[in-house]
Amino acid sequence: MRLFNKDLRLQDVTLMYLTVLATLVVILVASYQVDPAASPSRGGSTPTSTSTPVQLPYHMPLDPRGHLHLSWNISYPLQELYLEVRCSEMKHGLVLGMSDRGELTNADLVVLWDDGHQSFFGDAWSDSQGHVSLDSQQDYQLMDTRQTPEGFSLLFKRPFSTCDPRDYIIEEGTVHLIYGVLDQPIRSLQQLNLSQIETGVQRALLLRPDTPPPSLPRDVQTLEVRTPDVTIPTQETTYWCHIFQLPPNMPKNHIVMYESVVTPGNEAIVHHMEVFECSPEMSTVPQYSGSCDSKMKPASLNYCRHVLAAWAMGAKSFYYPTDAGLPLGGPASSRFLRLEVHYHNPLLISGRKDNSGVRLYHTPSLRRYDAGIMELGLVYTPVMAIPPREQNFHLTGFCTSKCTQTALPPGGINIFASQLHTHLAGRGVRTVLVRGGREVKVVQEDKHFSTHYQIIRMLRKMVTVLPGDVLLTKCTYNTEDRSQPTVGGFGIMEEMCVNYVHYYPRTQLELCKSNIDPGYLQKYFSFINRFQGGDACSCGQTSVTDQFSSLSWDSFSGEVLNSLYNTAPISMACNQSSAKLFPGDWERQELPVVTSQLQRPRYPCEGGKLPSQSSEPTVVQPDRVEEV
Ligand SMILES: *[C@@H]1O[C@H](CO)[C@@H](O)[C@H](O)[C@H]1NC(C)=O
Ligand SMILES: *[C@@H]1O[C@H](CO)[C@@H](O)[C@H](O)[C@H]1NC(C)=O
Ligand SMILES: *[C@@H]1O[C@H](CO)[C@@H](O)[C@H](O)[C@H]1NC(C)=O
Repeated sequence: MRLFNKDLRLQDVTLMYLTVLATLVVILVASYQVDPAASPSRGGSTPTSTSTPVQLPYHMPLDPRGHLHLSWNISYPLQELYLEVRCSEMKHGLVLGMSDRGELTNADLVVLWDDGHQSFFGDAWSDSQGHVSLDSQQDYQLMDTRQTPEGFSLLFKRPFSTCDPRDYIIEEGTVHLIYGVLDQPIRSLQQLNLSQIETGVQRALLLRPDTPPPSLPRDVQTLEVRTPDVTIPTQETTYWCHIFQLPPNMPKNHIVMYESVVTPGNEAIVHHMEVFECSPEMSTVPQYSGSCDSKMKPASLNYCRHVLAAWAMGAKSFYYPTDAGLPLGGPASSRFLRLEVHYHNPLLISGRKDNSGVRLYHTPSLRRYDAGIMELGLVYTPVMAIPPREQNFHLTGFCTSKCTQTALPPGGINIFASQLHTHLAGRGVRTVLVRGGREVKVVQEDKHFSTHYQIIRMLRKMVTVLPGDVLLTKCTYNTEDRSQPTVGGFGIMEEMCVNYVHYYPRTQLELCKSNIDPGYLQKYFSFINRFQGGDACSCGQTSVTDQFSSLSWDSFSGEVLNSLYNTAPISMACNQSSAKLFPGDWERQELPVVTSQLQRPRYPCEGGKLPSQSSEPTVVQPDRVEEV
């Protein structure tokens, strides 16, 4: 929308801009150091109850000391979030921000600061150089400030999307939160240099399903898989591995829920935890409790890879749908579980004891269906590679219609949760359901995915996959900092593109993944080699990894590889849990065709009805002013 006439002079526009800016400026906050009781919050009558456990059900520590704490709630009907930051030692203000991957530049910020006399609250942003400015459109609305027994509390709200191009769009998936503490007054926001104050990054899933948790069966029992009194190592990152044994002769049960058990005081250090089931083929697994990276770690622990539970900081309890449960115990499963705890201890706190873990809620009264886990995406193979110095390179794994037709029951399956996985170069993952050539439903999407934040996410709505449907899993990678190509594989510098979907009823289909037909990739190598004038083509004699490394990478070889991946036939891994392919021909399959893509959902701020605060201020968005 353009509200300025072409013939308005720049001076007028600038003047109007400054006037409006001055009137909305920042909202004055009563000095939080002097008399918090007198704070005139613009939101007016917020309830004066002391704590807000019900209204703000989600919370997590922000900094490793645990001095800053974030709580929030979500309203899907209003498309907005209430956020509360609590600070146990408030000095001269604080910053909360969101940016693509946790950078301090190009960030959407909300700042509380004082200039030595007065305190201010404002919606701000940082540019690519880190200069901080007040936003011309104030989208964070201050609701309340108060002093509580736990410290200073700042409550504000914000829509998911504000339509201000400088603001971050809060979507499902990972949000990189940045926080900062001001320990000196600043004369104005322009004086704020985020690189000179104490800051940090915390990842969170801000948007969650809003369905109330189902009730648990009466005969539910609990099993705590916890570390035995570990002294948290004095190093930034530790992955602690602990082998846990189920009681002998435990019959088959269903896990119906699980939650984290974090040792009090360590909430800001216990970063994430996973419980894996060992391979049922191994009759015994040696007792071990130590670093997962230790040379002393028994090799057989590598066969404990089947995920039973995964929790990360800020996550709530995980519930199975009421008619399904995840099998635990019984003859078909292993008695051995591996607990992995990631301790994040950047402050090198020493001597801290921990026995955190996961509490599994299980029932011997089996539910109607077994839940299962299926792997979608790409096969771990070097034929799927990412050229070096790419900002956004996509690889797509297919679960074809032929495979779902072969392996799924007539009523289909219901996906209720999903865990995305890539290695370090992964930036985004999206799994979409395609029916009759049309995208019909996004199963899970994360535009700010980080390998450091893997968590099983419950879907807001279950997705039913019918025989004949196609599932596409597309991963986005950034290799700008790499000079060599990145091939698919298990190594941390190799890549993966996986979505572990949790579904029921369980089927024999364990993997539904693809990779390019290797023969077509060889045609690519010989074409590029010839094009680049290299007559010494070692095609076929060296490994695919070496073939990729010996190409000289420019935008041409990169683009041709990209088009090859988008057109060449694939081989399908339509595999059963017995690690055998389903009967059928799975080589040189045609790529599924997608004729129509899903439209992005519209936000209330887009078109038509504009929220009240934009009636005047929207006129003065600086980027529009420049256009005049
Ligand atoms: C979120 O919290 C605010 C403030 O406590 C409350 O007024 C609001 O009703 C809550 N909204 C939801 C959806 O829980
Ligand atoms: C902020 O401070 C850093 C380091 O002190 C400096 O390199 C940078 O140029 C400053 N940024 C701005 C926008 O002033
Ligand atoms: C699928 O099964 C085939 C046949 O047993 C096996 O060779 C292949 O490695 C399996 N694929 C994957 C990705 O595990």
